[in-house]
Amino acid sequence: MKLKSPSRLTTTDYPRIVALWGAAGLHVRPNGRDSQEAFEGQMASGLQTAIGIETESGDLVGIVLATHDGRKGWLNRLAVHPDWRRRGVAKMLIAAAEDALHQQGIDVIAALIEPGNAPSLELFLASGYEEYAGLHYVSKRSRADS
Ligand SMILES: CC(C)(COP(=O)(O)OP(=O)(O)OC[C@H]1O[C@@H](n2cnc3c(N)ncnc32)[C@H](O)[C@@H]1OP(=O)(O)O)[C@@H](O)C(=O)NCCC(=O)NCCS
Repeated sequence: MKLKSPSRLTTTDYPRIVALWGAAGLHVRPNGRDSQEAFEGQMASGLQTAIGIETESGDLVGIVLATHDGRKGWLNRLAVHPDWRRRGVAKMLIAAAEDALHQQGIDVIAALIEPGNAPSLELFLASGYEEYAGLHYVSKRSRADS
């Protein structure tokens, strides 16, 4: 089966986005920043673009959230359904997310990759990203599940 080109998703796509994150085994925060309410707020802010790739019959097989803070862009929650991996879906999503951020005037784009996620690290390196080895990520949150 063929795939459609990457396209923008909206808040009405939330249920199938969450289903895809689950199928892909992605670690998300369903009671925090990945809840439906939070997702709707992020989309309403205008700072987040959700991009998906569907099969020709309309099944969502890949998703990425592109956000920015005015200075830097971030690629979040990138996931590809296990049945559709190693076919360039994630690479297409990254390219589409980069285009969306460039159109918003954002020139620096980054992603956080959890330790041990070799496929994701390889993917970003293969997509032209530079690794900053030894960089420490720190965060402070209001609630443990935020
Ligand atoms: C990481 C993930 C998004 C990759 O999706 P994908 O569509 O299979 O990736 P692509 O087909 O676009 O791969 C492009 C390149 O990335 C690298 N890559 C992708 N998966 C890889 C793997 N499992 N091992 C090694 N390299 C890999 C390769 O260089 C690949 O090119 P090649 O297939 O020609 O060798 C997918 O495995 C996934 O959804 N994982 C679970 C969720 C996750 O970890 N998301 C990232 C959060 S930061």
